[in-house]
Amino acid sequence: TADAAQFVPEGKNWAALRSAAAGCRGCDLFRDATQTVFGEGPVPAPLMMVGECPGDREDTAGHVFVGPAGRLLDKAFAAARISRDDVYLTNAVKHFRFTERGKRRIHQTPRRGEVVACFPWLREEIRVVRPELIVALGSVAAKALLGPSFKLTEHRGEVLEHDGLRVGVTVHPSAVVRAENFTEALDAFVADLVALKKS
Ligand code: URA
Ligand code: SF4
Repeated sequence: TADAAQFVPEGKNWAALRSAAAGCRGCDLFRDATQTVFGEGPVPAPLMMVGECPGDREDTAGHVFVGPAGRLLDKAFAAARISRDDVYLTNAVKHFRFTERGKRRIHQTPRRGEVVACFPWLREEIRVVRPELIVALGSVAAKALLGPSFKLTEHRGEVLEHDGLRVGVTVHPSAVVRAENFTEALDAFVADLVALKKS
């Protein structure tokens, strides 16, 4: 089956990776999405954070975390005293997956096959960014980095060592946006970020 590997140039820098990713057809998601949304931030960077996949706003803008999840992330960063400019932000999957409902495009969780297909890009980002810690935001990112049987609920807030990487895990900012008890969910997310930042 297809994956991104055939589109990934060997041993290239971030800018070359980003432009190559713009032409990726490693899975079917490129067909309906507007564009590839590659990761962004300092290269190298001590801290990398990995989300799920771009949302509606990211798909249109071509930048990571510029929609509602991004606003929540900015709020949490401020509370955790993390500067967004210091973090390399990316996603496990680089194209928006959605269904259309009238004029609205509703986000859909990427399938395991799409996460696997897209992983060569994330692997290359890790190679050039050389983070000391990678924070997986939510279960899709955690499973991309730690394997499909990983259970976020059992390891939330922990740092795990896997394949030579240090991976900290917490929830996805969208889960905080949707939480019934928003204030509590935000506080818990900020507490995770503060603890992970120190580890
Ligand atoms: N959700 C994500 O996981 N990533 C984004 O870039 C935006 C929303
Ligand atoms: Fe390539 Fe990833 Fe986009 Fe699929 S989601 S086409 S693997 S960049």
